[in-house]
Amino acid sequence: MKRVFEILVPYSVALAALLAVGCGSNSEDPNEEQQGQVCEGLPPLAEKDTYRVGFAQVWEDDGPWRNANTASMIDEADKRGFELVFDPGTKSDPAEQVARMQALIQAKVDVIFIAPHDETVLAPSVVRARRACIPVFIIDRAVDPNVAIPGVDYVSYLASDFRKEGQMAADWLIEKTQGKANIIQLEGTVGSSPGVQRKRGFDERIAKEDGMTILASETGDFDEDKGYALTKRLVAEHPTADVIYAHNDAMAFGVITALEEMGKVPGEDILVVSIDGTKKATQYILDGKIGVVVECNPKFGPIAFDTMLAYARGDDVPLRVDNVDRIFDIENAAEYLPEAY
Ligand code: AHR
Repeated sequence: MKRVFEILVPYSVALAALLAVGCGSNSEDPNEEQQGQVCEGLPPLAEKDTYRVGFAQVWEDDGPWRNANTASMIDEADKRGFELVFDPGTKSDPAEQVARMQALIQAKVDVIFIAPHDETVLAPSVVRARRACIPVFIIDRAVDPNVAIPGVDYVSYLASDFRKEGQMAADWLIEKTQGKANIIQLEGTVGSSPGVQRKRGFDERIAKEDGMTILASETGDFDEDKGYALTKRLVAEHPTADVIYAHNDAMAFGVITALEEMGKVPGEDILVVSIDGTKKATQYILDGKIGVVVECNPKFGPIAFDTMLAYARGDDVPLRVDNVDRIFDIENAAEYLPEAY
């Protein structure tokens, strides 16, 4: 089944129509008037030999997952001979990513992939791109579906199931500890879908276990240095803690450094649970420092560009494309290591 596209309406015509029925423009974008066209629904994407593809990546301070994700998108654009219009940004600031989205809209790229810093702040940018007749694909992190409506404001959302990742981490831990643990949780970025959903999935499973307690749960912003600082403080505040659940590998690296500096043995005194699947974390499993890593596969450049081209052909494109994630512990880490990033 093909998608039904809204007719492209030149802005002057749309404005005249609105004024004729006594309404003002409902645009929230002061730049919209200069852009010429307004799309009220999903914009079409022409079939062409090459595309100018905008990429609004969330900024992270050299996070290994983020670097692998960016590399996958760049490689895939290169392989297909497409121009990737990509400004990596300079700081962990959703407002800066909003400005980068605006620059892509003004550059009139053919299509935009965005990995939003958080669910709410970037959602209006997705709507603005759609109104500027640029089809948007959301990758990795979600946007608020009440603001940026799936199938209206963006074509498709490609990502892992973050809630399931949290559940997988909890299920492994319940089995490993036979339902007895005092846990410190290091959450991801506040308001980001992996931060929200990894906590939700984990907490809902742990809540069913009488012998398991979450002593503390604070954000480490997916950042190694913050994971390190939080571990030092929270382990001192909660001396009975015997598990640290970090929402990503970068924070888990900070956890291990901090524990070792505190004279504790990761894997013996405190069991470390993480999410991502980087090479360094996989090696830590083999070294006995990390108990388990739930995979969050960053390499979805190929499926992202395949989905974009399917849309250009007019194929039926699902609103949600799920990455399938695995789980690694001492049983299979050695086998996974060669393909880890
Ligand atoms: O959105 C995916 C998460 O973002 C990855 O788990 C993490 O490493 C990154 O910060």
